[in-house]
Amino acid sequence: MTGKPPAPDKIMQFSSGALWGAMTLGVGSPHSIFTHIEGGATKVDAIAKAAGLSLRGTQALLDGLVGIGMLDVKNGTYSNTSEASFYLVEGKPAYMGGWIKLIVHGPVTKGWLKLDEAVKTGEPRFEHTADEAENPMWEELVLGIAPLAVPVAQIVAERTGIAKMAAPSILDVGGGSGVFSAILLAANPNARATQLDWANVNAIARAYVAKHGVGDRFKTRDGDFHTEDFGSAEFDLAILSNIAHQESPRENVAILKKLKKALKENRALVVSDFVLHDDRTGHPFALLFNANMLLATKAGAAWRQADYRAWLSEAGFAKVTFEATPTPSTLIVAWA
Ligand SMILES: C[S@@+](CC[C@H](N)C(=O)[O-])C[C@H]1O[C@@H](n2cnc3c(N)ncnc32)[C@H](O)[C@@H]1O
Repeated sequence: MTGKPPAPDKIMQFSSGALWGAMTLGVGSPHSIFTHIEGGATKVDAIAKAAGLSLRGTQALLDGLVGIGMLDVKNGTYSNTSEASFYLVEGKPAYMGGWIKLIVHGPVTKGWLKLDEAVKTGEPRFEHTADEAENPMWEELVLGIAPLAVPVAQIVAERTGIAKMAAPSILDVGGGSGVFSAILLAANPNARATQLDWANVNAIARAYVAKHGVGDRFKTRDGDFHTEDFGSAEFDLAILSNIAHQESPRENVAILKKLKKALKENRALVVSDFVLHDDRTGHPFALLFNANMLLATKAGAAWRQADYRAWLSEAGFAKVTFEATPTPSTLIVAWA
């Protein structure tokens, strides 16, 4: 070999660093390390005491959290990075502790340990697959992922001009926590929203939307979006967020056709999902997410823009735009 050999950085990162980093974050977050630091415990002994952990263990955890860029340290004084301060301090609106708990300690990591089997067989390996009715996994997941949808829902509010619409009616299919409804209803005091989801999840959504002070304009419908009718020319805006990736192409076309029928003339459908470019490049999370769908669903995937274009056109949507967001999600706006 001539010249300088390449550094094995990525191999080190993904053979050990990624898993070790995930475990470090997955232990640091539920032990409220970021919350204690934000609250003024900034030395290792004070952090250990506040978290009720051993001194030796806390030092190892803090070193790891510095290593993965979640903490800064100067002369033995620890501080949260801006990312940790924004997303990992309990009580803050964008707190992502629920997401970390779900991924690291919940069914997701257990499923990922079986990736080899899933790759060999092409079959899912999660304990509960996405198509199960009243899947208990959703109850934890929807609140865990809600902070990720907040910036996306804010962009939706801007792009659709919801604030200026007269009295818009919104349909959110598989709305989960109700995060889109909460943000869109807050943007327009005359808006009303209907969420279609399983009964166990709708109960969670009603509490979430009520907490945002707009519960009086939020309605839920319990049922399976594969078999439920969405109505006819009833809605001014429809949302389909983080649903298409769990469905097969045939199911997606069927859902999009029902959404087209449910919308009034010239109204928008907003799809938010982890979308690949047509050449199968894209956001690293979206690319890895494809294996998550292999593990969690019978026929889902991180679909390409070309797939969405074809399905939306078959469903009767004339104009389609794609927009990257500050999160790994791509926003698709289609006009009926
Ligand atoms: C990944 S979550 C997305 C939640 C929300 N749209 C978001 O982006 O935060 C998927 C949601 O779809 C719901 N869901 C999945 N399959 C469903 C089905 N067949 N009928 C109704 N709801 C379903 C789940 O209960 C869950 O709330």
